[in-house]
Amino acid sequence: MNPLSTIAEISKHEGETVTIRGWLYNLRESGKLLFPIFRDGSGTIQGVVPKNAVAPEVFEAVKGLTQESSVIVEGKVRADKRAPSGYELDVANVQVLQRVPDNDPFPISLKEHGVDFLMEHRHLWVRTPRQAAILRVRAEIIRAVRNFFDDRGFTLTDPPILTPAACEGTSTLFPVDYFDEQAYLTQSGQLYIEATALALGKVYSFGPTFRAEKSKTRRHLTEFWMVEPEVAYAELDDLMDLAEALISSVVQRCLGNRRADLETIGRDVSHLEKIAAPFPRITYDEAVGRLQEGHARGALENKFEWGGDLGSPDETYLSAQFDKPVMVHRYPAKVKAFYMEPDPQRPDLALCVDVLAPEGYGEIVGGSQRMASYDLLLQRIREHNLPEEAFKWYLDLRKYGSVPHGGFGMGVERVVAWVCGLEHVRETIPFARTLHRLYP
Ligand code: 4AD
Ligand code: MG
Repeated sequence: MNPLSTIAEISKHEGETVTIRGWLYNLRESGKLLFPIFRDGSGTIQGVVPKNAVAPEVFEAVKGLTQESSVIVEGKVRADKRAPSGYELDVANVQVLQRVPDNDPFPISLKEHGVDFLMEHRHLWVRTPRQAAILRVRAEIIRAVRNFFDDRGFTLTDPPILTPAACEGTSTLFPVDYFDEQAYLTQSGQLYIEATALALGKVYSFGPTFRAEKSKTRRHLTEFWMVEPEVAYAELDDLMDLAEALISSVVQRCLGNRRADLETIGRDVSHLEKIAAPFPRITYDEAVGRLQEGHARGALENKFEWGGDLGSPDETYLSAQFDKPVMVHRYPAKVKAFYMEPDPQRPDLALCVDVLAPEGYGEIVGGSQRMASYDLLLQRIREHNLPEEAFKWYLDLRKYGSVPHGGFGMGVERVVAWVCGLEHVRETIPFARTLHRLYP
């Protein structure tokens, strides 16, 4: 029996005959020579099938074989400098498990397709090399995030997905009929990991979160994955230190382990090579100054007024001014969530930070110090018209040993989009959920 090999590990078998289990990715034929390209999920490799060197039935099996037919291939691994992977396979045998019918070919051919067509066939689109590379980068980012927190003494605590109340504003809640009660899909695990942070010190959560976003932008999904650290006794500067260390670590890991995938995707990695702490930190006030100056120069259409939240064009403009992520801190409390601690120096500001990725990618991290005072928190809950009953337990955290604490949320899909240099977040998750997409 030949050793089984993945295409990614083929270099370990140079000169040997191996078995590869996969699919036919493409086939070039030139008379008595066939050049099938096989893929197995780990990569692609070109095979060579000369008519006079293989059994007639092997030649016949490969000749005219349809794209994405499943195959078990035996062949000898030969180094070839011209091959993208550095190796070719001298095919000795091919067993076809299922032949894709000629009259119903694989829908995604190697020619260009429109995005709507591709999203409609997402279950098949994920097989193409670029999409597979993006998913490997995503997995690397998730692994890097987990390692980062696990190595620093954080405990993973999983918050519930079914919740009785809002965390990030009532306008983007997905309602769920919970027996006789009204429930919602969680917008963020934050409120719950504040409780576990006060129990365990340093915690994080990593899970799916939901926003009934009516926005049809290239940055918004209705279901996305968020990693959220939460730290007892942490203040705003500590959170900014943590965010820049996390982001640098994630980018460095991708550069170290996924360079070939980034190349497949077509990413110019020179942008990523600059990503190392420290990151620039500017106040909201300073950001407003820059935006107003941008407007005066004609680079921004609308004049930004102090007091508003940054819109997508504002974030794009600001982040394009730096070649590292920029941390914008101390926004007006009015435009931010109810739970943020006011700045003692200027109580109209919140002790919060948004991290904007460079190259115009916009917000990838949002976080803050949390309100420590029971009375002030109760007042905010009332001002925001939130149901007091549902927040009783959350207020308890301010009654029993309240301490300064804080954390942030990092959206995985936005980070994948930036690291891979993608136009839209819909390609960063295996099956994107957006305003108009619930299929497949
Ligand atoms: O800024 P957000 O809304 O903050 C929170 O949810 C806090 N409770 C997090 C915390 O402090 N623990 O969301 C955090 C991040 C954003 O910076 C963005 O990266 C991502 O989550 N995000 C989205 N990603 C994709 N689609 C959407 N609709 C997103 N909304 C937020
Ligand atoms: Mg935010």
